[in-house]
Amino acid sequence: MTVIDVSGCGSGAVFLIKGKANLLFEAGMAYAADQMVENIKRELGDAELDAVLLSHSHYDHVAGLPAVRKAWPGVKTYASERAKEILVKPGALKTIRRLSGEAAEAAGLPWDSEYDDADLQIDVSLEDGETIELGDHTIYAFATIGHTKCSMSYLIDDELMLCSETVGVMGHDGSYMPSFLVDYKAAEESIEYSSELDAKEIILNHYGFVSEADKAAIWDVLMQKLRDSRDVMIDIMNRFPEEEAALREMERVFHSHVDKKEQPDEAFYINAASMMKTLKRQFPERFPRHFQLIAAVDRNWGIGNKGQMLTVIPADQKLFRQETMGKIIVMGYKTFLTFPAQRPLDGRINLILTKKKALSVKGAEICHSVEEALVRIDELKQEKHLTDVDVVIIGGESIYRQFLPFCDTAQITWIDFSYVADTHMVDLEKEGWELVRRSGEQTFFNLCYEFREYRKLEKESL
Ligand SMILES: NC(=O)c1ccc[n+]([C@@H]2O[C@H](COP(=O)([O-])OP(=O)(O)OC[C@H]3O[C@@H](n4cnc5c(N)ncnc54)[C@H](OP(=O)(O)O)[C@@H]3O)[C@@H](O)[C@H]2O)c1
Repeated sequence: MTVIDVSGCGSGAVFLIKGKANLLFEAGMAYAADQMVENIKRELGDAELDAVLLSHSHYDHVAGLPAVRKAWPGVKTYASERAKEILVKPGALKTIRRLSGEAAEAAGLPWDSEYDDADLQIDVSLEDGETIELGDHTIYAFATIGHTKCSMSYLIDDELMLCSETVGVMGHDGSYMPSFLVDYKAAEESIEYSSELDAKEIILNHYGFVSEADKAAIWDVLMQKLRDSRDVMIDIMNRFPEEEAALREMERVFHSHVDKKEQPDEAFYINAASMMKTLKRQFPERFPRHFQLIAAVDRNWGIGNKGQMLTVIPADQKLFRQETMGKIIVMGYKTFLTFPAQRPLDGRINLILTKKKALSVKGAEICHSVEEALVRIDELKQEKHLTDVDVVIIGGESIYRQFLPFCDTAQITWIDFSYVADTHMVDLEKEGWELVRRSGEQTFFNLCYEFREYRKLEKESL
């Protein structure tokens, strides 16, 4: 099999695979398209270019397509179904045009901005695991989700693997740029699956052929680099809680040595922000949070019965208002249903968890999982200049249980009575939390209660 790097600018971006059918892997940047077409023509002479295999829909991989179609009108483009769907969306097409223009400007090179958007369309969509024949080539397409949801890699003639960017981007100086924009865990799975295919030759995206010497260990190396960069990123995010500061540090660690023509700072920041979001969603346990919770419990840590509170104590209600005003309050849908007129509580950001996809509540934020809630809480904190202590978990039982790992302070109204209860708060004393403050006995008619504050003990001191 003859494979030639025909990138129009630099190297490692676009490859020509010659045979009875001539294939192109990727189509590169718009500003590099004319040079790329010239390089391909030099190789093919009068022969036709038959197909373009695309790894995903990003502008730096597809924007050379119009020039390719102009030179070989019969060429067919191949990509995943999802990429096909994306490349007809007006928003995506507009972004491709804008980023292509910005990249051309940064490179100081001309580009054809007058192209027809229809030239970016995918002619044939491929399913994960589909095999097709093109001329004398057998092409096995397999999804490598992680960089994007539409990412696809190819195994040509059971021999040559054309990898999507999901596995990360190696530099010839030994550097590595993680690239798991939408799914870190899927990126690990993609590396694992790619390694199982045992390809004789491997082309990494934005890099080129993996050398003979590096081939045996390449998948282990990529996996290790992916994991190491995840750990470095999580460490940066914990050391720099402000997103902007974290991004600046990421730029210093991962991007300062990169050719800005190949990836301008703006593109890096967009990618890094996306990876940060992915890590927070997929590894919530690695980001210590300091939320507080508030509950009124009876002697047995009971909190409710038949969808209602066990009792109502005015001083407890007053404390609840004081402790939550101006903050983000996180609740389950059943607790929301206990609110007067089923309306969000005023002066607070009400975040309601429900599995009901279609539910919307005027004046409230809706989230459908703990992971989604944690991401949204982080966004709200940034938007409203709040911190973790401004996040209060207000119940009921299911929410207290799920958010307990993210809380370290609890305001508990402890009622000296045993009610019939069908919902309970976690017994914080059994969990090893420390009682740090108590108000002393309070009364409401013949009911005795006290206000308590509990703190989660640091693991080391348990
Ligand atoms: N004493 C107190 O301080 C206090 C405080 C609050 C509440 N309560 C009492 O506690 C009781 C309610 O507790 P509860 O545990 O039955 O209900 P809850 O926690 O208030 O709400 C449960 C509902 O929240 C949603 N939910 C929970 N986890 C979710 C997740 N991971 N992703 C998406 N949605 C999720 C589901 O809503 P969908 O079913 O809509 O999917 C679930 O049915 C009531 O009696 C209430 O009065 C007492």
